[in-house]
Amino acid sequence: MERTLSIVKPDGVSKRLIGEVIKRFEGSGLKVIGLKMIWIDKKEAEGFYAVHRGKPFFESLTVFMSSGPSVVMVLEGDGVISKTRELMGATDPKKAAEGTLRRQFAADIEHNIVHGSDAPETAAFEIRYFFNALEMFEY
Ligand code: RTP
Ligand code: MG
Repeated sequence: MERTLSIVKPDGVSKRLIGEVIKRFEGSGLKVIGLKMIWIDKKEAEGFYAVHRGKPFFESLTVFMSSGPSVVMVLEGDGVISKTRELMGATDPKKAAEGTLRRQFAADIEHNIVHGSDAPETAAFEIRYFFNALEMFEY
């Protein structure tokens, strides 16, 4: 079964959107198999977003991601990677489809409340980055 990593980013947590994000995912038939609140530090944010190192937004993004607690979760389901990304909407909320999480709640292209892995290989890396085998459950 396909898995993905999602994060309610620090802006989403401070806007009290943890429940809203999980409700959308669960309401679409996806299963939460791992879940925790963590405060990602700067170095951890840099490692997580290593593919973006060198881009103009990298410093600002990693400062933002370490600015408060996040909720990280592992989701499982058929087509979970594309389903979560569809529910999230485009990176830039101005370009995100009506009714998506980012369109409805994100402030701007950086502060966009939620993350979701974009491919099976990145999902595998990202899940391992935050979860060990004992923190994910089959049920
Ligand atoms: P994510 O990885 O967080 O799920 O978002 P994404 O795939 O939709 O976007 P990605 O291109 O991977 O960018 C990662 C995060 O970096 C911030 N960003 N800022 N200022 C900018 O132009 C810019 N572009 C991207 C966003 O927080 C984005 O989600
Ligand atoms: Mg991405």
